[in-house]
Amino acid sequence: MIVAIDGPAGSGKSTVAKAIAKRCGLTLLDTGAMYRSCALLAVQAGLDVYDPANVDAIVDIARAADIRFEQREERQGVFANGQDVTAEIRTHEIDVAVSPVSAIPGVREAMVAQQRAIAEDANVVAEGRDIGTVVFPNADVKVFLTADPEARALRRAVQRAGGDAAKDKDATADQAAVEEILADLKRRDAYDSGREVAPLKPAEDAVHIDSSLLSVDEVVASILSLNEGLKAMDSTSVPAEPAPEPEVEASAAPEPEPAPAPKGERKPSAKASRNAKSSDGPMRAFAGNSFEDYYDHAMSEYPLLTRAFYGVVIGVVGGVTKLLWPWNIEGIDKLLDRSHGRMIIMNHAGLLDPLLVIVSCGVRGIAVRPIFKSEFNVNKLTTWFFSRVGGIPVNRGTADMKALRRARAALERGENVLVFPEGTRIKSDDEEITIHGGFALMAQLAKAPVLPTAIVGVRDLRPRGAKIPKFFKRVYAKVGEEITFESLGVKGKKQQVEAMEKLAMEKVYELRDLLRAEHPGKM
Ligand code: DC
Repeated sequence: MIVAIDGPAGSGKSTVAKAIAKRCGLTLLDTGAMYRSCALLAVQAGLDVYDPANVDAIVDIARAADIRFEQREERQGVFANGQDVTAEIRTHEIDVAVSPVSAIPGVREAMVAQQRAIAEDANVVAEGRDIGTVVFPNADVKVFLTADPEARALRRAVQRAGGDAAKDKDATADQAAVEEILADLKRRDAYDSGREVAPLKPAEDAVHIDSSLLSVDEVVASILSLNEGLKAMDSTSVPAEPAPEPEVEASAAPEPEPAPAPKGERKPSAKASRNAKSSDGPMRAFAGNSFEDYYDHAMSEYPLLTRAFYGVVIGVVGGVTKLLWPWNIEGIDKLLDRSHGRMIIMNHAGLLDPLLVIVSCGVRGIAVRPIFKSEFNVNKLTTWFFSRVGGIPVNRGTADMKALRRARAALERGENVLVFPEGTRIKSDDEEITIHGGFALMAQLAKAPVLPTAIVGVRDLRPRGAKIPKFFKRVYAKVGEEITFESLGVKGKKQQVEAMEKLAMEKVYELRDLLRAEHPGKM
């Protein structure tokens, strides 16, 4: 097993690689420490690492260097030619000297050979700049970890001040220190990316994860979810954190094997199942599309027959529900502006909630993609039905990156996505509610606004214990005003997501209370 994690300085790759090594019992291969060791040995030999005349001598040092790691509870021990260099390689002097040393092709050749030798005898998680591209192009898992330069600078500043931003999400640091580190990081990024030998660049098949908004546990959980074998090596039985939703951009994420396609369903192509953003060519006109094809394509691309079926379902469900529970959804025409997709969020009291939104959008030709729990896919028929009506399944409690990418892709295409952040039907105001904040992250990744919506009356249709719902009772819903991320007036991606989660749900409940006031007695 080889896990390759590349990325710029401060992206969090060392912390993440260390956590994976610990949880999965892998050997941690810190390749940056190897280049730092070479630089230290050169400096100790009295060589000016900037003098081109010393290149051969530095290469000789690198070739002769015997670099070893010692796994320790805290910081991993690094030994160069038997000397404990763990602390010395992290000094400012080596920070500076390592750039020219690591840019020497002969040094890189020597280090890459050592890195491959280490991986021959052990399962490794290797982190660096060229792991997925040069050192282990056939790695089982390839990740390119990034983060906003600002987030990276803050982490480093907190670290220098003796704190740990990975453990303390709200850690702050002196602004002047952050700015100085930021300037330095940008310089190093430019150097590492611009150099001729092994420049910092993602492997084509690496999964991009933006760690700016994520905790270490969330990044680790996302990486483990990329490979079944790796996940199986995880020694912690408790799942890290529910549904981490990292930013995934690259194609070709190694996904678990898809379930065998049911008869009559085409197996999704590798590409289609890997990258929800790029539709894998048009859908087939008649039979032969897989469930995945439906999740990955725009509803307007569905085969004509499916769209006709959808129209009939909308008509029938709309007619029947309106007859049984005369309902009205105020403000739905706001969705007629198709210039962008919206993340519609709503309180959840019963089955009628999603139907109402879907039907009222459907009759107006507005695409809405409901996110539904994958537990609802109980059999082939339900899976078939949900896929035909534009549903996107989500595995709750896991790192469901596919669902995240699909929702994001839909929003970016201009489709609306419907999420019930309460997660389950709420039967009473006394119930304890956990808001699932994933909607805000999905919206932010797609740069889409959030549209709060509320519904009342559904809860009254089925009093506790009643088997049959009450008929001919009115149900009211109201669409609120779009909330854009810019309008929040908050800086920082993470802070924006948190602010959006809070404000959007407050608006949902405000709308619900307004509806209750307008229609007394309705719950
Ligand atoms: O990850 P780090 O900051 O410890 O890396 C130290 C330096 O080594 C950094 O300037 C980039 C370089 N490096 C490299 O060129 N290739 C690697 N695989 C790892 C690090």
